[in-house]
Amino acid sequence: MSTGDGERKCKLGVLLSGRGSNFQAIHQAIESGQLGNAEIALVISNKQQAPGLALAQSQGHTTVYLKPSAYPSKEEYDTAIVKALKGAEVDLVILAGYTRILTPVLITAFSKRILNIHPSLLPAYGGKGMVGGAVHHAVLEAGETQSGCTVHIVTEAVDEGPILGQQTVAVMPKDTPDTLAQRVLEQEHVLYPNIIGRYIKEQITEQIPF
Ligand code: GRF
Repeated sequence: MSTGDGERKCKLGVLLSGRGSNFQAIHQAIESGQLGNAEIALVISNKQQAPGLALAQSQGHTTVYLKPSAYPSKEEYDTAIVKALKGAEVDLVILAGYTRILTPVLITAFSKRILNIHPSLLPAYGGKGMVGGAVHHAVLEAGETQSGCTVHIVTEAVDEGPILGQQTVAVMPKDTPDTLAQRVLEQEHVLYPNIIGRYIKEQITEQIPF
């Protein structure tokens, strides 16, 4: 990535495992010019049948499926991910519903260059096992009156990296995990592109080289 006009854009590498609605929100933000200095260089999935991977293919993005069982260890799997990301000259890695926990191999190769979105107001309801419906179920069980979503930098402590932005969502008395998940997801689609755009701008302003 560089900072000058007409020069190379900030290349995003998206990792996903599922439906890919956050990927789609980021794709749309780029298409509409909201993330003028970013482009999606590569979409990687650990799930061959991930709807998000098919969506990315249909939009003409370069996609890669890496089969976890083809690698003897999590570290070797992440080494392959790093190789693919570096091969595509990726500047910033975006986790968009990626279900694997990253090893230090990947985290150190892209230090402070991996972002994640989590469907709760971290540090509440984060960490191992706090994924998908389990998060919203726990929020409702605890009788919370508000929940939301968080974008953070990925570090080795799961869901504990520096928080870049949050959006709160009111919990309604009749909410089920599904209805709450849906309302939080709508806010994720706004928050994630906003924070990605802001993060890229801040890195440029502070002249922290990608
Ligand atoms: C989202 O709820 C996100 O917060 C979490 O995984 C889910 C991914 O959804 N990390 P999608 O695949 O982007 O639709």
